[in-house]
Amino acid sequence: MTDRELISAAVKAAGFAYAPYSKFSVGAAVECSDGTVYTGCNVENAALGATICAERVAVTKAISEGKRAFRRIAVYADSADYCVPCGACRQVLSEFSPNIEVLCVRSDGRYVSYNLKNLLPQAFNKNFL
Ligand code: THU
Repeated sequence: MTDRELISAAVKAAGFAYAPYSKFSVGAAVECSDGTVYTGCNVENAALGATICAERVAVTKAISEGKRAFRRIAVYADSADYCVPCGACRQVLSEFSPNIEVLCVRSDGRYVSYNLKNLLPQAFNKNFL
């Protein structure tokens, strides 16, 4: 799958966002090492701390279907700035794929690519335990 195809899946997923509080709809599409793709959107809650980000929805969907290794994730928001994953999502991605490529997409479709290692240096991981 091309970057553009993965980004299209993230854009489509953003259309399903439940974001009545922030009005900030986010979509994510994660590509597993076997090539399958899982999408997610942010799901907010009146108890704001119960909100879950699009990236963690996509990754937990994949995990719950038996996938644990990821190659790339695209994150899209209808925003002037590139949408980057929050700290909690970086940590969750790092648990499974510390070297995942993260495509951060903005409203005009332009995107920047990072390796998660650079977004979350010195990550806490299972080797500490
Ligand atoms: N959000 C995401 O879903 N992913 C991100 O990368 C950044 C933030 C959501 C959480 C919340 O629903 C809204 O965006 C505003 O923070």
